[in-house]
Amino acid sequence: MTKPLLTISGLEGGYGDIKILNGVNIEVPAKSIVTIVGPNGAGKSTIMKAIYGIANVTAGSVTIHKDGVDHDVLATKPYNLSKIGIGYVPQIENIFSAMTIDENLDVGFLPESGKPLGELKESMYARYPDLVSRKKDRAGQLSGGQRQMLALARALMSAPDVLLLDEPSAGLAPALVDQLFDELVRINESGVTILMVEQNARRALEISTYGYVLDMGRNRHEGAGKSLASDPEIVGIYFGKR
Ligand SMILES: Nc1ncnc2c1ncn2[C@@H]1O[C@H](COP(=O)(O)OP(=O)(O)OP(=O)(O)O)[C@@H](O)[C@H]1O
Ligand SMILES: [Mg+2]
Repeated sequence: MTKPLLTISGLEGGYGDIKILNGVNIEVPAKSIVTIVGPNGAGKSTIMKAIYGIANVTAGSVTIHKDGVDHDVLATKPYNLSKIGIGYVPQIENIFSAMTIDENLDVGFLPESGKPLGELKESMYARYPDLVSRKKDRAGQLSGGQRQMLALARALMSAPDVLLLDEPSAGLAPALVDQLFDELVRINESGVTILMVEQNARRALEISTYGYVLDMGRNRHEGAGKSLASDPEIVGIYFGKR
């Protein structure tokens, strides 16, 4: 069997003495979209924070498998995660508001990716034409939808194998939510694997290869994205309103 690109195994941890994750197992096959859903406080963001050293890890492992080699993600300093192919768009504060749009893209650039800066930037502006006329504007002046596009573009500047997205649709107007999910499909089709956490559970699962329902820091349910999105029990318990 092919090893998944990213494997989270038996992950436990939290903040200080407070344990939030009680043994989380997630597999993200290469080229897939995998979504983690679950109630507020389930520990979804904490999984991403654990990977980035913002939350404590007390047990378990996170591995990225690429080019036949396993890399220990938890042993990798957060600022080196892009070098092993991981890009991250946090739930909040995911752009540098005081910097220009162009500078935000520069910050995301990773020389080790082997791709020229100019070429990567051109491809980002081609992908997000709204940003072209705003290159020299401070990122803080962008609208919510444009900010989210810039946050994605910044993360893509490191040419990641896998993007970790924490609530990419949060705070967006309904029309923009559709655009965002379309954009995630396009990013995935360009060869980037996606692991996301989403409140907009049904929409996210509909575009996902596979989904996990997390509750109280533990795996509760899992399955193909579309089947979870339409499973009456799961819809009723976890996201009946959406
Ligand atoms: N820095 C922190 N210090 C202490 N507790 C925290 C901290 N950050 C989060 N928590 C707690 O950890 C638990 C899980 O939080 P987390 O943010 O991972 O949940 P979530 O599943 O992402 O929820 P949401 O859907 O609201 O984003 C919550 O009870 C939260 O209050
Ligand atoms: Mg969260």
